[in-house]
Amino acid sequence: MEIVVSGIRPTGKLHLGNYFGAVTNFLHMQENYNTYFFIADIHSLTTHPTPEDLHGNVRQVLAEYLAMGLDPEKCALFIQSDVPQISELYTYMNMNAYKGELERSASFKDKIRTQPENVNAGLLTYPVLMAVDILIHKADYVPVGKDQEQHLEMTRTFGRRFNNLYGVDCFPEPQAFSRTGKLVKVPGLTNQGKMSKSGGEGDAIFFDDEEKVTKKKIMRAVTDSGPTEPNSEVSAPVQNLFDIMDLVSKPDVIQHFKNAYSDCSIRYGDLKKQLAEDVWAFVAPIRERIVEIKSDDKALAKAAQTGADKAIASAERTLKEVREIIGFRRFY
Ligand code: ADP
Ligand code: TRP
Repeated sequence: MEIVVSGIRPTGKLHLGNYFGAVTNFLHMQENYNTYFFIADIHSLTTHPTPEDLHGNVRQVLAEYLAMGLDPEKCALFIQSDVPQISELYTYMNMNAYKGELERSASFKDKIRTQPENVNAGLLTYPVLMAVDILIHKADYVPVGKDQEQHLEMTRTFGRRFNNLYGVDCFPEPQAFSRTGKLVKVPGLTNQGKMSKSGGEGDAIFFDDEEKVTKKKIMRAVTDSGPTEPNSEVSAPVQNLFDIMDLVSKPDVIQHFKNAYSDCSIRYGDLKKQLAEDVWAFVAPIRERIVEIKSDDKALAKAAQTGADKAIASAERTLKEVREIIGFRRFY
């Protein structure tokens, strides 16, 4: 079966955009591929989180992905730092990654600009660690967005370089991957771009938000002064609400409001009220499961251990091969 690897940054809480843009793809992939999904806690050390924040965020993200339907029996859902083979291969791969090419990476240049006070070596070699995440499972596919394409290109370079240096065929070349069909972009509530945790107050609907907060965010969403002519074009902020409605509401409800827009009888207050109900109906059961799982140490332990076992088995197979290729041959 083809192998898919994807890393999840443990930064904060998931919102509706993450769910429809990323998690639904994971749910599809775990049914059809040999999947390794991991929480990239080693990567996150570049920003120096406190131990409590780091652990809390990993727990949150693990609970969220489990609550959203990732199944430890179907995929390998694991925590990066539980797999020491990753750090070992990272050490080896760093020897064949060059300062010049690492400095040219767009993400590194970006960090120099945005956090000049903390340009550490981990940031410089971030693409090496990411390449290792992928190569260690000999992945065929990596489901990443446009912003990660350069990292994926570097992954292929590092793998190819290793193969050439030792005259072996150890690492395959992973390709970017998006599930066949359309890519969903969930709009934000306050700005004109995509829903994002950095989109400002009230932009994103987080699964962790309480009912009151969720509904208030929707009731406060930007609209316009309303259609004045039949069948007029929908303005961007109103289209955003319709786009979210498309994801969570029943077809007859959606049709009702589209008709009301076309014949100018729409009242945005009603539209938002309905949307608030439908979003909450979608979010509430998942939210409940997140709360449940987050405090269930046994369930978290079982999931993390099951994932680690699978990831370690796969990683150790590759490492055995790599150690032999490099010339680390035991005397005992
Ligand atoms: P954020 O934009 O809130 O910082 P991330 O960059 O952490 O979110 O995104 C994590 C995953 O969720 C990525 O795969 C990204 O493509 C997806 N994603 C985030 N926001 C959206 C959105 N509004 N619509 C669709 N997918 C999204
Ligand atoms: N760099 C990725 C991001 O910022 C996260 C990541 C780390 C990753 N290692 C990976 C993604 C391996 C895919 C495969 O989103």
